[in-house]
Formats: sequence, structure tokens, C-alpha cells
Amino acid sequence: MKVSPSILTCDFAYVAKEFQFVEDTGADMIHVDVMDSVFVPNMSFGPPVLACMRKVTDMFLDVHLMMQYPDRMIPAFIKAGADLLNIHLECSSPIDETLDTIRNAGVKTGLTIKPATPAEAAFPYLDKLDLVLVMTVEPGFGGQKFMADMMPKVAALRAEIDRRGLKTKVEVDGGINAETAPVAAAAGADIAVVGSALFNAADPKALVAAIQKL
Ligand code: DX5
Ligand code: ZN
Repeated sequence: MKVSPSILTCDFAYVAKEFQFVEDTGADMIHVDVMDSVFVPNMSFGPPVLACMRKVTDMFLDVHLMMQYPDRMIPAFIKAGADLLNIHLECSSPIDETLDTIRNAGVKTGLTIKPATPAEAAFPYLDKLDLVLVMTVEPGFGGQKFMADMMPKVAALRAEIDRRGLKTKVEVDGGINAETAPVAAAAGADIAVVGSALFNAADPKALVAAIQKL
């Protein structure tokens, strides 16, 4: 599995230091959680802050847009330096058009489904996706409990991707730690977002290495 640490739990006054910490753990990329206070009952930051982050790291930026109208901000997030832009299937922007805008700019595409959304709802978009993200908590906050009942959705997406011979990756986000990552890996997930478990780990490097071995 690849590890994408969520920097939602980091100290944003010291973001360069926190990014260095993530890099030193040996993680594969960085998961950046954008929240607009409409799609989820929480708020984080937008393109100007992402542009600051871009200046202090060369790591791949996996940007998770928890936004009601992501299409309005896609050009700004592209300009800010996102490597992958991930929108929610439940948002109010046109999904196909928004994914096309992302892809035509040479940025990787992602689509996320919330816990109540069935895996099959993402099937029509798989051909144009680099990544599909199965939320394993209700989006909005770090530090919540992993929903193991999302694993059949991970398995269904994995099976459909393999059946069609696609290269789309399956990512899981929410409550991933040393105990739950193996459960997600067994269901067929390729990338684990790890937030609070990594920032609170006694040995962050060992946690990343253990998940990468799965
Ligand atoms: C939740 C975010 C997650 C979250 C992960 O809305 O999308 O990325 O912060 O944090 P943990 O690993 O603490 O659940
Ligand atoms: Zn996220």
C-alpha cells in the first residue's frame, strides 16, 4: 500500500516543518483536505494556502476537495500546484465536465464517495479516474472511527477496475491506523490516507513502513 498522510491534524503555523516530518516518515505523497463549511460542517483553507504548501515541498499533493461547488475553484487549485484533484460524487458541480477540466490541465483526477453512496455510483466515471476514494468516516473531521462496513465497496470497486483492465487506484480515508490498514488492504485498497494515527504515533516511520508492506 502507498501512504498519503493527511495534514489536517498538523500545526499550520509550522507547515514547512510538518511537511518535512511527513517526508521523513518515508510516506509516498501528502493528502491535503480542503473543506468549505457547506459540503461539510468544517472549514480548512483554499488555493492561496495550497500555493504556500507547494513552495515548501516537492511531494505529490493529493488534494481532497470537500466542496459543494468544486468546479468554481478548479483553475485556482490547478494554478496553486495540485498534482491530483479529487472531487466528491455528491457535490453540486457537473461531475463529467469537472473531471474533464482537471484532466485537460494535466492534473490527475479523483472521485470520492461518502459512506452512504454505493460503489456502483462511481462506476460510470472509472474510465476517466486516476483514483477513486472510499470514505471510511463521514467527511469533515480527523480522528474518527474507521467504518469496516465500507470494505465491500472497496472490494466492488477493485473488482470492477480489474474487470475493465483500468489502472485507477482505490484510496481509503478516515480512521486508518496499524489495525485498520490491513483490513482495507485485504479488501483491495491501494492507498491509505493516515491522519491522526500518524501525527500521534510513537514511531511514525515504523507505522508508514508497516502499512507500505501490506
Ligand atoms: C476527513 C478527512 C480525512 C481525515 C483523516 O474528512 O478527509 O483526510 O482528516 O484523518 P484521520 O486519519 O484522523 O481519520
Ligand atoms: Zn481526506
